[in-house]
Order: sequence, then structure tokens, then C-alpha cells
Amino acid sequence: MSENEPSRGSTPPFPFTLVTLVDSGGPPEWARVWNALERLLDDAKGPAAFLEVPADGAAHDQVLAAVSAVPPEMKKVLVLGIGGSGLGARAALSALKPLQRGPGAREVRVLSNVDPVTVADAMAWFDPADTLLNVVTKSGGTVETLSQFALFADRIRSRGGDDALARGVVVTTGPGEGTMRKVSSSLGCPTLDVPPAVGGRFSVLTPVGLFPVALAGHDTEKLLAGARRVVDGIRGPDRAVQPAIRSAAHHFDLMGRGVSVRVLWPYCDRLASLGDWFCQLWAESLGKKGDSGRVGQTPLRALGSTDQHSLLQLFMEGPREHCLTFMTVGEPWPAMPVPDFTSLEPALGEFAGKDLCQVFDALGQGTMAALVQEGRPLARIHVPRLDEESLGALFAHFEVETALAGYLLEINPFDQPGVETGKLFAHGLLGRPGMDDYRRQAQALLTEEKES
Ligand code: PA5
Repeated sequence: MSENEPSRGSTPPFPFTLVTLVDSGGPPEWARVWNALERLLDDAKGPAAFLEVPADGAAHDQVLAAVSAVPPEMKKVLVLGIGGSGLGARAALSALKPLQRGPGAREVRVLSNVDPVTVADAMAWFDPADTLLNVVTKSGGTVETLSQFALFADRIRSRGGDDALARGVVVTTGPGEGTMRKVSSSLGCPTLDVPPAVGGRFSVLTPVGLFPVALAGHDTEKLLAGARRVVDGIRGPDRAVQPAIRSAAHHFDLMGRGVSVRVLWPYCDRLASLGDWFCQLWAESLGKKGDSGRVGQTPLRALGSTDQHSLLQLFMEGPREHCLTFMTVGEPWPAMPVPDFTSLEPALGEFAGKDLCQVFDALGQGTMAALVQEGRPLARIHVPRLDEESLGALFAHFEVETALAGYLLEINPFDQPGVETGKLFAHGLLGRPGMDDYRRQAQALLTEEKES
């Protein structure tokens, strides 16, 4: 299979291309794919509401108004959020970092893990006088985010009392009775809404990701416009060439052939966090107990060229269980000609005068060629220019691909029942009223494990 950008006539080129270099599967079962796509599109007003997000101008306006209302002395922003409430913003901030930013751009960081050393570092950076706290939790009740909130809110209150909390905190949360929703109404601080039908890992283009990205000075309208290219494409007449649909069909086929690991391999440090975001999306959406048994495919994020010195050996000669998606970027890169040191050693002449980007590119091309020679299932996404528009398109591409793969697998890609048990045990261990049984069960399970 080989597919390219779905551009037509005078339509501007699609923000990225997808080419399958080695297929090693069979032809997609198109009837099944179109059926799954119809069901997905029908669900856009229900569980697949993420499809409506890029066109939600009202939510975007709410975000821009909230950005304008942030007090000017707030030069920095700390986002608290984990899983789908943190990974997307981190991916966007990292991917867009070298771009020109708009006036009033803030320095934005995301804190997810509750590891006390990491939190202590963030506390050392956090100055309540100039740092806004954006607490992001769709459910409003996530242990990591709520415990971090208490630590940072205490810093803000100690400096300026409750007024400072109302001025220095913005909450992004779902509607309903969640703890953080109640906290925000007690504080009287600005609150942004997460659409209830959009699952956490599909929420990067809602206020969850848009608010931090806009505060960092990036163009969120372009981000949404890029995403609309993908969503409009799967609704339009050229469905058969849409990268998200072809890729979902391809990976569904590979899963059926026992290819149990999917490697996303950006050749670009700025896309490493996008790889982490994708891993959560693919793992949590597809790893399910379906009606016909357990399904899913383990996602793995590699990074070029670093992982040529680590994981590549396994992909080349290990078990035939991997398929790979390379991601390459055309621009922007800083010019960095390699100085000539042949006077010291002639072997250094291989690099002399070349741009570092050419060296990087040769390493990527060499690795792709080696994988093709070895017959490993390999696709390449090439992004001619990594900017807001192409990033928005990539977010939407992976979301559509993942949801469609879930519909093909006949599971619900929008829930995550398997993560609930661990949360209940943790609440029991933390002493939540009425959850003593969970504490006792967790303690018993871990004791038995130790003794076995
Ligand atoms: O995709 C998901 O739904 C999860 O990964 C959540 O985003 C994560 O558990 C955080 O949840 P919340 O936003 O409720 O704090």
C-alpha cells in the first residue's frame, strides 16, 4: 500500500504526508472499514464528540477571553494535569517551542507526576507573585492533581490570602459535581469547561490544551484549522486517501496478524512528547476486553537518532512483533554547518561543511532503508513544516485513527475500565471515608505477593 497527501486541485497541500514503505499485511477489508467509519461519524454527537471539537468556535472564544483576563503580572504558568489532562499540552508546547510567539507570551510548564522530588522542583520555580496556576482535571477528582493543587494553593494563599487564590488560579474541569468544580466555585476563580462527551485523551483541542498553548503565545486558531482539515477530510468525498483512515485500516490488519507492538519513531526531539501523548491514546483506547477476547497493541515511543543505539537492534533482529511509524520534519531547523577539522583527522571530512540537519537526515534515511531491507512493516509521516497547523492536523489524525481502530476492533475506545481498580485501592490506602475494604484488600494482595 502506498498513499500520499489528499490534496486536490487548488486545495492547499495537506499539512503532512503518510507513505507506507513496507506493508506486509493484506489489502484492507474496505467494507468493514467504511462500516466502522459510518458508525464513528454517527457517534460525533455522542461518544465520538471529539470530532466536533475543532469546529467549536464558542469554546475557543471562551479560551481566548480567559487568556485576555489573565493578570499582566502573571508572566509564567504552571499547569497541573495528568494523563489526557497534561500530555497534550506538553506535546504542543514542546513541538511549537522554536516558533515565533505572539505578544504577551508566557513561559508555560506542565506538572503531571506526583513524585515529591519533581514537585519540589516545580515549587522552587513557582513564584505566586508572577505565576498563574492552571488546574486541569476533567473528573475533578484525580489524586495527583488534587494533592498538587493543595500544595501550590497553599503557597498562593500564604502570600496573598483568598483574593490571591481567586486571581492566581484558573480551573479547567468538567461539569457536574467534581471536587475541583466545587473548589473553583468556592474560590470564585475563572473556570473553563471540558465538554462532558470528550474523553480526557481526546481533549487536547478543548480548553484543556488550548488555554496553556494560547498562554504560551501560539496561534490556537491555526491549531484548530489544521485539525479541521483532517475531520473535514474523513467526512468528504476523498475518504479513501485520508491518512487517518488508511492508517487505521492498516494497523487493524497488522493487529490481526499478531503484530503486537506499534512503534512511533519521531526523528525530532520536539515530537518526543507527541509520541508520549500518542502512547496513552493508543494504549488506553484500544487495550480492552472485547466481546471476542482481549485486544490492543502496545505502543512504544522511540526517538531518532538516539534509539538507533538502543531499540533498533531489537526491531531488526528480534521477534517479528513490531510495526513502525517514522516521523520526519522538513523545517524549522537552525542552520548549523559542521566545522572542518580534517587538519586534525581526515576521517572528520565526512561531516565537514555539511549542515547538522543533513547528518541527522542521513541517519534517519539509513535506518529506514535498513528496516525496509529487513521487511519490517514501516510507514513514514513527513511534516514539511512543524507549526500550529500541522500539529493540529497530527493531533486530529492520531485521534481519528485511534477511534476508528477501536470501532474496527469492536470495542469502546473512549472508556478505560481497567484503570479504575487501582484508583479505588489508592483511595482506600489514603483513608477516604467508606473505602476501608479497598485498603484491606490492597494490603492483603500485596502481602500475599511478598510471601509467594
Ligand atoms: O484519558 C483519560 O480519560 C485519562 O487519561 C484522564 O485524562 C486522566 O486519568 C486524568 O483524569 P482527569 O482529567 O479527570 O484528572
